[in-house]
Amino acid sequence: MRFTYIENLKHFVNQEVEIRGWLYNKRSSGSIKFIIIRDGTGFVQCVFSKSDVPDEIFELDIPYESSVIVRGIVREDKRAPGGYEILLKDIKLLSKAENYPIPKVREENIPNVDVLMPIRHLWIRGRKQWAILRIRAEVEQAIHDFFYNKGFTRTDAPILTPASVEGTTTLFQLDYFGRPAYLSQSGQLYVEATMMSFGKVYCFGPTFRAEKSKTRKHLSEFWMVEPEVAYATLEDIMDLAEEFVEYIVQRVLERKMEELKILERDITELENVKRPFYRITYEQAIEKLKNKGFDIKYGDDFGADEEKAIVEDFDKPVSIMFYPKEIKPFYMKIDYNDSTKVRNFDMLVKNGGEIIGGSQREENLEILIQRIKEENLPMEVYEWYLDIRRYGSVPHSGFGLGIERVVLWITNADHIRETIPFPRLLDRIYP
Ligand code: 4AD
Ligand code: MG
Repeated sequence: MRFTYIENLKHFVNQEVEIRGWLYNKRSSGSIKFIIIRDGTGFVQCVFSKSDVPDEIFELDIPYESSVIVRGIVREDKRAPGGYEILLKDIKLLSKAENYPIPKVREENIPNVDVLMPIRHLWIRGRKQWAILRIRAEVEQAIHDFFYNKGFTRTDAPILTPASVEGTTTLFQLDYFGRPAYLSQSGQLYVEATMMSFGKVYCFGPTFRAEKSKTRKHLSEFWMVEPEVAYATLEDIMDLAEEFVEYIVQRVLERKMEELKILERDITELENVKRPFYRITYEQAIEKLKNKGFDIKYGDDFGADEEKAIVEDFDKPVSIMFYPKEIKPFYMKIDYNDSTKVRNFDMLVKNGGEIIGGSQREENLEILIQRIKEENLPMEVYEWYLDIRRYGSVPHSGFGLGIERVVLWITNADHIRETIPFPRLLDRIYP
């Protein structure tokens, strides 16, 4: 008899195994009982009838989420969730759970999110949350594998910073030994510096936005991956971004089908995420919105409704390029042909909105200083950043991808709060 994990049951058909986990669900029909055990790697149904096990085991009524160790024979069963079930021989109750606060219907049929959010630490045990967070973990691993295989060096940026990157309105301020400091909104300025040492770099870590947004796409703490590449133009970095997004999605399809099935995700949209993707200009996007009856003019930024109206016409991610410089940060490079625009792109998807924001960076010292002045930003905090242009400046480009938005898209979850183990939202910081 072998201890094993549920994900490995396929290797033990017709053999006796031991599974160590928790009781997820149970039901009985006459003299047959069914329990579902989860062990972190999956869920498996165990079946036992009155004639198979001693009476005291058959009569055991184990509360939900109690920890249990079960023993039984593995059977292949196409109808069973996961394809296998266990003919139970023995069950040992390790720790009997108190009355579990999430009803039997579980998160598959959310009674009320306001009830579930304060017990997020328990909610994550549910099958749907498990599937979403397993996909998140695959996305994170895919990110590292992609950049590692391409010879990038991971250089992480600080979280405690002396100044803003994207503008000052959305910063969490804190007291740093008597001086003001801020939680990082982006590692970009720092990876621009490490890029000058390592050529191709990325950082991956938590970033913070104090936006008072209460949409289904905004977190105040989210994880962002930010590559930065020396000598790359806007077109080069867009090629990289598209290859990257294709890789992430195909990787999830390859390795996380079980989870996608649990989520009942229609995978035809995901299978279609293969290059070439779509690219349009900001002006084309504005035209499109006007044609759809939006009250929008050149110079406006896109909100959730606008994004939705743009992406609905595309069966794959679409990038919008060359925004007016007024609505984008100071570091973006002014376009070669039109000095009112910047060489940037935002990549949008269905049900995720903007997943990527990126650009070519201004590498010219004088122009960058001019841009900082135009934006009324405090020059002294950017002195070190200007050094990147003083000592061997090169054309370069990068982007930031918010992983929760990507997980929201891939899993088709209801809300971004389900894509991170412990979401931080405008009105929520517990647990
Ligand atoms: O477009 P953003 O603000 O770009 C930057 O921060 C650049 N400095 C990145 C770079 O070029 N290195 O943010 C990048 C991405 C967005 O496209 C979105 O996916 C995600 O970060 N994001 C959020 N995700 C969840 N909640 C929020 N409040 C987010 N704000 C941005
Ligand atoms: Mg953006």
